[in-house]
Amino acid sequence: MLIDKSDILAWLSQCATTYAEQMHFLTELDRDIGDADHGVNMHRGFQHVAALLPAIERHDIGTLFKNTGMTLFSSVGGASGPLYGTFFVCAASAAGARTSLTLKDLLDAMSVGIDGVVARGKAALGDKTLCDVWLPVLETAKQALSDGIEPMQILALIESSAEQCVINTIMMQAKKGRASYLGERSIGHQDPGATSSMLMLKTLHHTIRKRVSGTP
Ligand SMILES: Nc1ncnc2c1ncn2[C@@H]1O[C@H](COP(=O)(O)OP(=O)(O)OP(=O)(O)O)[C@@H](O)[C@H]1O
Ligand SMILES: [Mg+2]
Repeated sequence: MLIDKSDILAWLSQCATTYAEQMHFLTELDRDIGDADHGVNMHRGFQHVAALLPAIERHDIGTLFKNTGMTLFSSVGGASGPLYGTFFVCAASAAGARTSLTLKDLLDAMSVGIDGVVARGKAALGDKTLCDVWLPVLETAKQALSDGIEPMQILALIESSAEQCVINTIMMQAKKGRASYLGERSIGHQDPGATSSMLMLKTLHHTIRKRVSGTP
């Protein structure tokens, strides 16, 4: 199965819908351990990305990712704009001038993206950040790929393992960002950035499944 440019465009556009729908939920999560802006940040950022897509839709996937990242940098303040911006700009360099990707190519690009986030934000596994979704999920997905599991099954596995990773953040103590100021009081709350990352991956699965099977 190839993931082509139209899948990437549909995914990025659908992310704008997802974050519009989930804005309140993400903001409430951030109210518990942050400053109640994560939902607004993701919503604003992806509204700008969706508005930009028609102007860049003829370009390759690397260019789509790069423009997505630059738009998130320029339209979202706080931690998440630069972090998700870095993710897409770094993923762009791995996707390059291609107009279609295998699932392995996409996972590799995402790994380059999250490596950039780690280099920038210095979060380690267990620090209760969005890295606690991307790092384990990508490892699980790559293992499934090398075990010969079908791409659509891997996309479903990506969604379910991302959901489990979000649950796992509840009992973590935040070591990065505003939530870390709470110390032990950050324990018992689901991390907002991990949740928005899970939603991004869930949206990827649903977007591709819809195109492949014709059902939502
Ligand atoms: N150093 C980091 N590395 C990776 N992710 C991080 C880091 N710092 C914060 N995050 C993620 O960003 C989310 C908060 O994003 P938000 O849009 O609310 O920005 P913010 O209010 O500026 O955040 P903060 O004040 O926590 O830095 C957190 O839930 C966490 O997942
Ligand atoms: Mg915040």
